[in-house]
Order: sequence, then structure tokens, then C-alpha cells
Amino acid sequence: MKLDRRITNLIITGFSGTGKSLVAKEVARGLNWDFLDTDDEIVKQSGKPIAEIFRQDGEARFRELERETIRKACQQKQTVIAIGGGAIVNPQNYELLAKTGLIVCLEAKAETIYERLFREAAYSPETEVRPLLANDNPLERIRQLKASRQPYYANVDWTVHTDNLNISQVAEEVIRGLRNLAKFASPSARSGIDKDVACVVETATQSYPVFVGYGLLDRLGEKMKKAALSGTATVISDENVFSLYGSKVEGILKNAGFVVNSFVVPPGEETKSMDYAIKIYDFLVEHRAERDDIIIALGGGMVGDLAGFVAATFLRGMPWIQVPTSLVAMVDASIGGKVGVNHPEGKNLIGAFYQPNMVLADCETLTTLPQRELTSGWAEVIKHGLILDEEFVQFLESNFNRLTKLEPGLLTRAIARSAAIKAQVVSQDEREREGKRTILNYGHTIAHGLEAATQYKRFLHGEAVAIGMVGAAKLSQRLGLLPSAAVERQQALLQKFGLPTVFSGLDLTEITRAMELDKKIKGKAIRWVLLQDIGKVVIRSDVSQQEVLAVLQELAEA
Ligand SMILES: NC(=O)c1ccc[n+]([C@@H]2O[C@H](COP(=O)([O-])OP(=O)(O)OC[C@H]3O[C@@H](n4cnc5c(N)ncnc54)[C@H](O)[C@@H]3O)[C@@H](O)[C@H]2O)c1
Ligand SMILES: [Zn+2]
Repeated sequence: MKLDRRITNLIITGFSGTGKSLVAKEVARGLNWDFLDTDDEIVKQSGKPIAEIFRQDGEARFRELERETIRKACQQKQTVIAIGGGAIVNPQNYELLAKTGLIVCLEAKAETIYERLFREAAYSPETEVRPLLANDNPLERIRQLKASRQPYYANVDWTVHTDNLNISQVAEEVIRGLRNLAKFASPSARSGIDKDVACVVETATQSYPVFVGYGLLDRLGEKMKKAALSGTATVISDENVFSLYGSKVEGILKNAGFVVNSFVVPPGEETKSMDYAIKIYDFLVEHRAERDDIIIALGGGMVGDLAGFVAATFLRGMPWIQVPTSLVAMVDASIGGKVGVNHPEGKNLIGAFYQPNMVLADCETLTTLPQRELTSGWAEVIKHGLILDEEFVQFLESNFNRLTKLEPGLLTRAIARSAAIKAQVVSQDEREREGKRTILNYGHTIAHGLEAATQYKRFLHGEAVAIGMVGAAKLSQRLGLLPSAAVERQQALLQKFGLPTVFSGLDLTEITRAMELDKKIKGKAIRWVLLQDIGKVVIRSDVSQQEVLAVLQELAEA
């Protein structure tokens, strides 16, 4: 495989038990590069095992040896270097490593690490017990040490979550990350790598980066040019968003050499219609838009779906870019290529799968989003953690206060992670054929019931999803899948973000009727997306109507 010339080496880090060394070896084989493990080098040089160095000479001496070994390793070329889990904490090491190549971190939950280390110890009792296991509460020790290193692990170029993958799958993910980062490299960034890439969506039809950052709008033109886009850009936006960001975006695009036309539509879900699609077609015809001109969707999910639908259909498809400005759009609607308009008889009945060329989310735009819209958006962020990433749930729990205040650094991290989870799911199942994308519907069955029973007027989507997730968790508990502590934990998290967890004044039969009409039903039985644990999702089609009714009764506030 050919890689970007500027990437000299590949560094693999991560906590003990994440498989660094084995993965590095496998990646080296895949790339036909050399392989080096700094821990092995230290053992070779000093002639004694690492535990002995720690015991006889102390940790400080070990770190000294480690620094020296890393310094030497960095002089290599085309080498996959596995480094010890604590090495990256040292700023000198980090700087050296970051200069020489890409850093990939292998992640795993504390429980997974504990299990792996424990298993390893059981299989090879002759080797020394790892210091991590040699204490009263090894799991807690792993948790603490891991938490203290997390800020450093967060500072890498690419992260692979290894919990559910075997060594060769992890290696594949590492290589995929490397390829994508190289492909979307921007000239200004270190080693030619664009640090704004939160994730890459990779489908059969298109592979594109999702950029997430604070103040990123300023770099829209630059990133478009880098992606080899040029010519005329048509900005499609709604009145609210355009009045705030329209002239700024127009200016940025013009400065980057684009010819810019803008078409502004009224805000609100009614605009997501065939009527407005036709108005935009008329505008494009009038301006003689050509096939390689660019559509830019600047706004929330409504604008994204509508503009994307026009991009998919006008001249049989034009390049397009999502610039999401609502939280829902940043973590959900802009990723995955579902575009479309509503029909008077149903939402999203007319549409297509049509992937954008890039997504650029500037988290700073959320500072002007109305509070209720913002709160509603957190429901989808939380959902992503609940279905696939317990650690992300922990992150949201510890930082809700600063996140809801839109603290730039944390906000960017939360959005990047949430977008990456959505990207990962849609990359596996672009067209919702294999059922893998279904897990994104956690909380949505009841939510659709609530929305339809109130003619989409009472709840914002995220509010309905929050209540729906409480329902789905309670259902999971009734089926014996989920402990009550987890149900309460989820509820508490939703409340921390200001989301509702009950409803009142609704006729339950209206809700169930609307749920049976929900289009996500396969055959007759509803496919329920449920939880087995926080971060672990299951799908069940054998849920009885009584159970559902009982849960709805629990959700209905007296
Ligand atoms: N394609 C998908 O996969 C997908 C996924 C989820 C939702 N959606 C669709 O997305 C839509 C909902 O998205 P939404 O919640 O973003 O709604 P929206 O686009 O209607 O935006 C909500 C409101 O916020 C305003 N707004 C947006 N950004 C702003 C900003 N930065 N500052 C001030 N005001 C701002 C908008 O003008 C609007 O009034 C629905 O049509 C839904 O069907 C699509
Ligand atoms: Zn949703």
C-alpha cells in the first residue's frame, strides 16, 4: 500500500492490555514496514525485565531508559513503533513522536482491560503478575490510572476502540485511519495531517471527512480547495441561520476564489418540501448551475435534508457540503447521507442516500442556537454513548455542567466523539439494509409515537427521544436485560442535560396506534432497540404489547 510520503512512522500507544505490540506487528506486516516495540528494546538493552527495572532501579530510571529508546526509535523511517502506555504522558516524548509520525491510540474499557490482563495472567502463570493486578482492587486501580492518562490519550491523531475487535480487526482499523488521515491532510497541519478531522465516513459510494472544531467556519474555503472543489458555490440556508452567518460564509468562500450565490428559505419543518426543492431547482436553472458546481447546506437538519435532496437530484447529482449549525445536525443529520423532503402524508417519505463531499461543523455556531433546540440536541449525543460507548457516557456525566455552558474544548470533544459514533455505524450499513443502522433508533420507537400522537407540535424531536429512551430502558429492565441502576443512571444523565423523562396529558392508545404505523417496523413485530448495559445495545422483536403499555403508563405522569 502507498502512503502519504510525509508520514514517516506510525506510533501505537494505549493502556496495557489494548494489544499495542501485537497490533503494531500486524500493521507493520500489512504496510510492509518495520516494527519496533520500545519496551522490548529496553529489556534488550538493560538485560532485565521491566518489572525488575522498576523494582531495582525505580520508575524514574525506567522513564529515562524509555526516553532514550524513543529518541532512537524516532530516527527510524517507515516503522510501526509500539510504545509503553505511560510514555506519551511525558511532553518531550510526545513532541518527538508527534514530529516523526502519526500517533494512534488503542482504547478499551477498564473492564475489558482487566479481563484481558487477568486472562493473560491465568494462561501464563510463570510470568510475573503485572503490578496493575497485584493489589486489592485491580479494576479500580486500572480505572484510576487510565483516567489520569486519558487527557494524553485524547491528544492523538486517531483512536481505535478495541473492546469488540480482534487483533487483525484492530490492525485493519489502524490502517484505515492512517489512509484516511493521509488522504485528507491539509498542508498547514503537522506531518501533513489535518487535526480537525473528527472521523471519516466510509461507504461504498463515498468516503469523506467530518471536520469538527471551534471557529472552523473560517477554514471552510481552504478545506474546499484542498478537496479539489472549485467553481460556483450555492449556499442554501434558512432565514435564521443566514442572518447570523450568511455574509460571513459568503465572504470566506469569495476569499477562497469561489463564485457565490445564496438561496434563503423560511425556517421550519414545513419548508422541507417538494415545493421548496422546486424553488431551489428554479434558482439553479436561472443561475445556470453546472454539474461540478457545489451546493452548501448551511443550517440545521432541515436545511441539510432539503439542500442534500436538491444536490442528489439536480443534474443527477452535484457535489455538496454539509455545514451543520444545530447540535442535531452536527452529530446526527449531517452524517450518513440520508437526504429528503416531507410528503403531506408523512415525514421524509421522498428521499435518497447521497453522501456529501465533507461535513464541517463549527461548534461556535451553537452559541446562537435557541436553548430548547440545544437541549434537544443533547438527547442524540447521549444516545450515541448509551448504545455504544460507556466511556463517553462517563465523560458526559462528569462534564455536563461545562458542556451545557458550551465550553469550547469540551464541546468540541463531545461533538467529535458523538459524530464519530454515528459515522462508524453508517459506514457499516450505508443504506440501512443490514440492520446495523437500526441501533441508532434507540428511544425512537416511543419517540415517534409521541411525536405523531401530538402532530409533531408538542415535542422537539430530542425531547421525544429522551422520553423514548427512558421507555426503552424500562422495557429492557422488564425483560431482565438491564439492571435498575442502569435505568436510573440513564435517567439522571438526561435530567442533567435538562431533558424530559416523562410526559403528561396524552392518550396512550393514540401513542400505541402511532407506534404501529411507525415505518421502522419489519413485518409485524416492532424491532425494539434495547440496552443490555450502558454502552451495549440489543435488538428484540419479541416484546409484548402489554409490556409496552405498562412502560407507557410508567412514563405518563399522573
Ligand atoms: N438526514 C438524517 O439522517 C437526519 C437525522 C436526524 C434529523 N434529520 C432531520 O433534521 C431536521 C431537524 O434538524 P434540526 O433540529 O437541526 O432542525 P432545524 O434545521 O429546523 O433547526 C432548528 C431551528 O434552529 C435554527 N438554527 C439552526 N442553527 C442555528 C444557529 N446556529 N443559530 C440560531 N438558530 C439556528 C433553525 O433556523 C431552526 O429554526 C428534521 O427535518 C429531521 O427530519 C435528518
Ligand atoms: Zn433522532
